[in-house]
Amino acid sequence: MMSRDPATGQVGARRTVSPGVRSVLRRMRWNAGLWVFFAWITTIATAGADAEIGRLHDVRPEACKQCHEAIYHQWKGSMHANSTALKDPIHAAFYEQEVGDPRAEGMKHKRSGTYPICLKCHAPVAAMDRSTKLDAKESYANGVGCVTCHSFKAYKGTEGPAGKLQLGIDA
Ligand code: HEC
Ligand code: HEC
Ligand code: HEC
Repeated sequence: MMSRDPATGQVGARRTVSPGVRSVLRRMRWNAGLWVFFAWITTIATAGADAEIGRLHDVRPEACKQCHEAIYHQWKGSMHANSTALKDPIHAAFYEQEVGDPRAEGMKHKRSGTYPICLKCHAPVAAMDRSTKLDAKESYANGVGCVTCHSFKAYKGTEGPAGKLQLGIDA
């Protein structure tokens, strides 16, 4: 039998739930709650085992590929996907001259003695972690990946301290 709910005006079958059914429903809801809880704990445990899970800037473009196939392939063939010294031989030649080994940790820009600014544009995920060992993680070697551009949290402007122009992406 269809009836109109006087409170919401919605048409539907009137809900006549007996106290026995209600207690079963309550128990089912409790069980569902437990399952969600265990799923959550499992996720946390897995995340602990694999440090890559949970860090947005480490999300691989392959994670976007299943739904954005065409864009993924455009990206894969682009210079954005090949921007690091591990993938672009021209950049690698200049990088080695200006900085040194792209597979070594703790490298400095030779002339300035500071963290190699090149990485802020050419390997932005490594730059966010202040790492210079580009083969340490796939996300470092990936260059300018999907989440480099698609993960704005805040706009920090283009001016650095003392009004200087800020180049590249800061963590
Ligand atoms: C499970 C499928 C799925 C995955 C995985 C996925 N997307 Fe999407 N994405 C969608 C769908 C569907 C839309 C279109 C939503 C709409 O209709 O506006 C979308 C839209 C977008 C848009 C456009 C938003 C807009 O305002 O127009 C961007 C940017 C985007 N996705 C980036 C990403 C990135 C980056 C990743 C990987 C980190 C990703 N997506 C992974 C399904 C997915
Ligand atoms: C502010 C961002 C930024 C910084 C910092 C930066 N680059 Fe680049 N670099 C780019 C962009 C963008 C391109 C691509 C330009 C183009 O194709 O028109 C590029 C291209 C290059 C190329 C040419 C690559 C090719 O295959 O044609 C070389 C070489 C290069 N950069 C070396 C360096 C070195 C070495 C440093 C550090 C001393 C550095 N870049 C710092 C953004 C930057
Ligand atoms: C260099 C920065 C950059 C990178 C890298 C990048 N995007 Fe985008 N993406 C943009 C910009 C900017 C737009 C908006 C373009 C527009 O509105 O015309 C866009 C638009 C999109 C859109 C919505 C528009 C559309 O054509 O459907 C999707 C989806 C998307 N990007 C997914 C991705 C995925 C997936 C990757 C990695 C495989 C990726 N992007 C890599 C900057 C980037």
